[in-house]
Amino acid sequence: MSAERRIKIFDTTLRDGEQSPGASMNLAEKVEIAQALTDLGVDVIEAGFPIASPGDFEAVREVGMNTRGATICGLARCNEKDIDRAWEALKHTTDARIHVFLATSAIHREFKLRMTPAEITERAVAGVRRAVSYCDDVEFSPEDAARTELDFLCQVVEATIDAGATTINIPDTVGYATPEQMGKVIQTLVNRVPNIDQAVLSVHCHNDLGLAVANSLAAVGQGAGQIECTMNGIGERAGNCALEEVVMAIRTRNDYFQCHTGINTERLVPTSRLVSSITGIQVQRNKAIVGRNAFAHEAGIHQDGMLKERTTYEIMRPEDVGFAKTDLVLGKHSGRAALADRAKQLGFHLTGEQLQTVFNEFKKLADKKKEIYDGDLLALVRQQYHDVPEQWTLVSFQVSSASDKQPYARLTLRRGENEFTEEAADGDGPIDAAFWATEKITGIKLVCKDYQVRSSTVGRDALGEVNLDVEFNGQSYRGRGVSTDTVEATIKGILNAINRILMTQEETSE
Ligand code: KIV
Ligand code: ZN
Repeated sequence: MSAERRIKIFDTTLRDGEQSPGASMNLAEKVEIAQALTDLGVDVIEAGFPIASPGDFEAVREVGMNTRGATICGLARCNEKDIDRAWEALKHTTDARIHVFLATSAIHREFKLRMTPAEITERAVAGVRRAVSYCDDVEFSPEDAARTELDFLCQVVEATIDAGATTINIPDTVGYATPEQMGKVIQTLVNRVPNIDQAVLSVHCHNDLGLAVANSLAAVGQGAGQIECTMNGIGERAGNCALEEVVMAIRTRNDYFQCHTGINTERLVPTSRLVSSITGIQVQRNKAIVGRNAFAHEAGIHQDGMLKERTTYEIMRPEDVGFAKTDLVLGKHSGRAALADRAKQLGFHLTGEQLQTVFNEFKKLADKKKEIYDGDLLALVRQQYHDVPEQWTLVSFQVSSASDKQPYARLTLRRGENEFTEEAADGDGPIDAAFWATEKITGIKLVCKDYQVRSSTVGRDALGEVNLDVEFNGQSYRGRGVSTDTVEATIKGILNAINRILMTQEETSE
């Protein structure tokens, strides 16, 4: 039996992660991610901030009622309305946690809250007591703790533990801390707060200086027993501590940290892909652990070393984090079962209708392209899997661009039984002209905030994947389109964003 400490993993992808610009998720997507997170083995899932919006409320309620195997947590500020709303969302959850927070740093006290230290302590205690009146499992976060005077931090922590908090989370809200300093904050709390053994100490680091993982590990080194993190490190501004990185650091350097987590590390890559597909936030190629190049050895000396003895240049095995051993090639003659099996290995459980749609697209692609790699399949699955009802579809298009001519686009789109054609000889280029023509037909005017094209695999016949961020009525929406023709992929991406807008409008009016 190991006497090592077990570090709890508190995942906040659905709450802090969703605060990444453009990463909003619908209810079904949140429930799906929550399921993937339980399969991954996280201990706590923060599913939302129930007072913030009806969507957040529903997400906490649904995730709480549909997810087994992890504690489900809802966030609340330190006031009665927030806490009551959080409990309203959580009350049917078997294993629930209320997470209350209140800023403690001088800068927040003075400029944001206009409260004295004594008033802060009083409100924090009242908030924790109210949460405890509903639920045994209560977490308190002194927001901006990393910039709070240590004496005051110790007082608030002691008072909130006395009031019944079972977890004390230390946030570095603005990503200002350094590893040594973060370690010192935790060490001070461990040494100076008399009742500290009655609560789990947690850490929640933002990545503004790129130090979130390092700061979290420093906190663990000084006694923190819970890490708050998100999949792929997504979150407010530069994001949060990346779950996959912190978990693999603890596992790979067990000799140093002498502790472990309950994460099933082979689920890291599939979960990362799922989150990236749903949020539309791409994982950079060189991202540690889950990036496409994380295990690719380019230098001849490294390749030579690897062939002689893998551990010369490799500290983790790709299969330990869930990279498939081979990039299996599917082709024209591959059947539905082979496709479903491969998609499953890549992290996507396709069922019935989804499998049929992906299979149809796969067959069309196999006519154009001899070999279909994992990247192609992922692009097809992403396109179909979390999609919105297709109210508008593309029937045909003609787009032209020349150095001495105005860009031109002519589109025919279908909605229900009707087809509509419009042309636009306008814009800065063919893509802009395609936007204009789509807007003329659908009547929906979009502001394009981001436009990215990437190829799914190597080769000139690879699929082109377009990801768009657009704004409509002040709200961000994303769109994704896939085709071997990048103009077609773009038009499909625009229509995908428009269909998402229509779906959201319908959900809101309901
Ligand atoms: O960054 C932060 O301070 C937070 C708290 C709500 C924990 O997200
Ligand atoms: Zn945060």
